[in-house]
Amino acid sequence: MMLETKTNMERHDHRQNIGTALLEMSKRVAMLLYIAFMGSLASVSAMGQANAASIVFDKQAQVFRIDAADMSYVLGINEKKQVQTLYWGKRLNATDTFSAAHSDPGLSAFDASINTTQQEFVAWGGGLYVEPDLKVTFPDGNRDLVLEYVSHSIEGNRLTLRLKDISREVYVDLQYEADGTTGILRRSAQVLNKTNAPFTIEQIASGTWNLPRGTDYRLRYLTGRWAGEWSLHEQMVQPGKTILESRRGSTGDQNNPWFAIDRNGANDQDSGDVWFGALGWSGSWQMSIEQDQLQQVRVTAGPNSFDFGYRLAPGEHLDSPDFYAGYSHDGIGGASRLLHRFEIGSILPHAPTPKLRPVLYNSWEATTFSVDEAGQEVLAEEAASIGVERFVIDDGWFGQRATDHAGLGDWYVNPTKFPHGLKPLIDKIHSLGMDFGLWVEPEMVNPDSDLYRKHPDWVLNFTGRPRTEGRNQLMLNLARPDVRAYVFQFLDKLLNENDIAFLKWDYNRNWSEPGWPAIAQEDQKKVYIDYTRNLYSILAELREKHPHVEIESCSGGGSRVDLGIMRFTDEVWPSDNTDAFDRLLMQDGFTYAYAPGVMTAWVTDSPTWVNQRVLTLEFRFLSSMQGALGIGANLNNWKPEDFATAKKMVAQYKQIRETVQRGSLYRLISPQKGSEQSVTESVSQDQQKAVVFAFLHSSEMLYPFPRVFLRGLKPDAMYKVETLDGKLSAGTPAVASGTFWMQHGIDVDMRGDFQDAALTLEATAP
Ligand code: GLA
Repeated sequence: MMLETKTNMERHDHRQNIGTALLEMSKRVAMLLYIAFMGSLASVSAMGQANAASIVFDKQAQVFRIDAADMSYVLGINEKKQVQTLYWGKRLNATDTFSAAHSDPGLSAFDASINTTQQEFVAWGGGLYVEPDLKVTFPDGNRDLVLEYVSHSIEGNRLTLRLKDISREVYVDLQYEADGTTGILRRSAQVLNKTNAPFTIEQIASGTWNLPRGTDYRLRYLTGRWAGEWSLHEQMVQPGKTILESRRGSTGDQNNPWFAIDRNGANDQDSGDVWFGALGWSGSWQMSIEQDQLQQVRVTAGPNSFDFGYRLAPGEHLDSPDFYAGYSHDGIGGASRLLHRFEIGSILPHAPTPKLRPVLYNSWEATTFSVDEAGQEVLAEEAASIGVERFVIDDGWFGQRATDHAGLGDWYVNPTKFPHGLKPLIDKIHSLGMDFGLWVEPEMVNPDSDLYRKHPDWVLNFTGRPRTEGRNQLMLNLARPDVRAYVFQFLDKLLNENDIAFLKWDYNRNWSEPGWPAIAQEDQKKVYIDYTRNLYSILAELREKHPHVEIESCSGGGSRVDLGIMRFTDEVWPSDNTDAFDRLLMQDGFTYAYAPGVMTAWVTDSPTWVNQRVLTLEFRFLSSMQGALGIGANLNNWKPEDFATAKKMVAQYKQIRETVQRGSLYRLISPQKGSEQSVTESVSQDQQKAVVFAFLHSSEMLYPFPRVFLRGLKPDAMYKVETLDGKLSAGTPAVASGTFWMQHGIDVDMRGDFQDAALTLEATAP
């Protein structure tokens, strides 16, 4: 759920609140967002029916208990009317009960009870020093806010708790929604202004997740940069705070809004307690992981409070983004499998049955900006010959776009490159049995464009200050209603006039000078919220009007990947770095948080432009086949044997893609920490099929490739093994039980540098 305002503050019911609020916006957009949101609720509820989540309130003890899948979450209203966390972890026995919550007495005069009591959502006031979930300034100068529980409602798998300030008419509705399939909870907070004056929200979080007291926690998180995204980091949780954040205006790749915390020691991929979560927000964000004075660990996340201010008028409300979190007893591998299942089942468009990703071709690396009808036709014929299903024209087809210096903002088809428009090429692509996709970068403008010459005030800027360019472009201020309307209209027109199945939606810089001079000074910092809200509403409206169109979120690579944008996009582009060996490490990091089925991966040229590394075509294919396979090589340079190999491997991919895209991922040998090997296994949901990818960086000192122990098979079923590429060691049985493959393991015969192998297993019985 995104941030939004509304006038009716009376109802606790979240669906009604959202419906009412949205009517303030343009009616059509409002209805679409409402439908999109209701749709996502419906899918979660529907899943909940099959795998019921239960929420029980013990009136006597004032304790709420949520049970879903293998997880229990328990909170209570203590004697100070604070909402206190009592338990979050492995599902408890039905007979386990909780007595009433009691606030912690505090440590001393220096650390009052408010700091040491594990609260679900705490405002800044009353002597709070830990990270607040909410901080406001009232017009009379008062900045103190102390929230107390007032009431609650339970509806199916959703719990809403209403809190109120001790003296002022400021209300906060905390929402919890449990997914019965995975035990993942969605949390958000809605702040309502029922006073008769506006106040300014300076910080809002979706809520705080409290972990049991402990000093042996290990935090994992993801960092990166352009062409080097998805680095996995781990560190012990220490006293003090770790802040993961983006101040960039969008998700960013420096940190990704995902965390996982385990108990360091005897656990990793398959065993041990892991608490994990992800924030669904594509604007600037922050996540604080804090160990307090009593060694309690709290995780709090929401929009970034840096340079933030949201003036809330009387009668309005502000909703936080959704913050999703779960618990796994089955190690970090179990945690990522739960997240993948949740993304497929509840987040992605068309959840719980998102469409499988087609094999696509994209000409960016082959032609860069030099796209034209004749050249693309040749590539399309070549792509079709190897079994490609979608042909995508990247940057360069529009306006006066010859390089990255001009054209962004002018979304007409370039008449020199495509004298008859896109239609003849699209028809040709269709006649070859493929559908057609197009690159757009809707939020940007080059100063050298008709749009900027006409509307220089449409970009983010501070009056009289320089406008810093990135890749020769400026950011349109999507928060402005006229910019939002322009962007929607050109995209709608493009989709109306051309038979387009897919948009690659790019975003190639971060914010600078984030001013919005056209509105009142005290409202200008709303830009961080309204921009992202408008982005989501454009995506929702386009999807509603053009339901067959699929969208990829790309941001110069993987700089805008999060559970917020993924509600509106079918796939994401993880990195501009397409070096198939570098990708192994990046793909490993990526899948800690996000499902392999949304991870597009292209086979590109060798040597790669990135590292000048030479890799076989088979290696490049198998690396990309771990996700949603695409091809980005210059097919004009391929030899007949390359086409033959590619044709064979595309056909193999189509056989295994459901297992890869929808199955359970097991990391058998991690490529992290300079490992020479990398092995993954995907197991189909019904456990009838598995596919194993194995890669070797370089052989050393005659050591054989390590034995690979499979996971996730049915112990008693018999599985037949086959190789897609590479060799098995002599004596490997053709058929053996799940127990055999998991306990005895399998030896792959691999020697040399940059070697690869891929195996499939298929149940023959039972
Ligand atoms: C970004 C994308 C690339 C490509 C170029 C086009 O860098 O990540 O895949 O689309 O823009 O300019």
